[in-house]
Amino acid sequence: MDRLVSGIQPTGKMHLGNWMGAVHNWVKLQSTFRSFFFIADLHSLTTIYEDPSQLRQHRIELAKDLFASGIDPNMSTLFFQSDVAEHSELHVVFSMITPLPWLERVPTYKDKIDEIREKDLNTYGFLGYPVLQAADILLYKASAVPVGKDQLPHLELTREIARRFNHFYAPIFPEPSDMITDFPSLPGLDGRKMSKSYGNTIPISSSSHEVNDLVRSMLTDPARVRKTDPGHPAVCPVFSYHKIFSTSEVISAVEAECKAGQIGCIACKQQCAAAINLQLDPVRERRDQWTDHAVAEALQSGAKTAKTMAAHTMSEVRSAIGL
Ligand code: TRP
Ligand code: SF4
Repeated sequence: MDRLVSGIQPTGKMHLGNWMGAVHNWVKLQSTFRSFFFIADLHSLTTIYEDPSQLRQHRIELAKDLFASGIDPNMSTLFFQSDVAEHSELHVVFSMITPLPWLERVPTYKDKIDEIREKDLNTYGFLGYPVLQAADILLYKASAVPVGKDQLPHLELTREIARRFNHFYAPIFPEPSDMITDFPSLPGLDGRKMSKSYGNTIPISSSSHEVNDLVRSMLTDPARVRKTDPGHPAVCPVFSYHKIFSTSEVISAVEAECKAGQIGCIACKQQCAAAINLQLDPVRERRDQWTDHAVAEALQSGAKTAKTMAAHTMSEVRSAIGL
């Protein structure tokens, strides 16, 4: 079986945006690939290093969210990145051969520094973020890496680092191909991109009651005041959710009735919340079966499996270099 690697940062609870954008796809892929999924706790330190007090809690919650989403420990290997020390070791080796300009020209680098003004991202580790990511991927000699479009520059850099290593020492690393998850980014409750940093998310661990309340608080077509005002579903975030979570019948009915001023936003939102809840029900059922203890055990066993593969690659790396 071809190997697949992907990671997710434990910066908070998993929300519908992460779920639809990445994890849904992981769950589908786990039966066709030998899959390594990890919680990128070291990567998250690049932005939360000043206050990692919530990291422990976030890591375990995210792991539970992943199992609840359908990541099956019998099919996939799920682990914490920092539990497999080889990630850090290979990162050091790669950092020796990665030219600084390769990192400085990664488009996300300067953008993020400008975007996240409240934090000092002017660190060695933040610049090296994609080097650690290359180590994550190449350690398992992955052939496929399912990621969102924003990660393509990191994948390109991973291939460049692999080529450079292979050229200097020995042809150990295959060049991984990207597997873009072409899922339109989900709007948040306020219509901006759903993101924890905007506080506009719907966590997948929400109860059905919470989902109802959150959807009720959503922004709608601002031009619509009365039910009889013709609406514009195309600009309404609630309608974006319908398109993803509702049946095609409901989607066409909502679209027509909104445009004609025949459905009120409150009724429309109730239908939307019901559709989301229907998809979250199996996630809730699986979550109930996972205690914190069982999650921690599954991750330890995942780390053990990952380490076997990672240690094998590292011994090839050491002997290729002469370490
Ligand atoms: N950078 C990725 C993101 O923010 C997370 C990540 C870390 C990752 N290491 C990885 C993804 C390796 C794929 C493969 O989404
Ligand atoms: Fe949005 Fe639905 Fe209201 Fe139309 S009826 S504006 S789609 S919430």
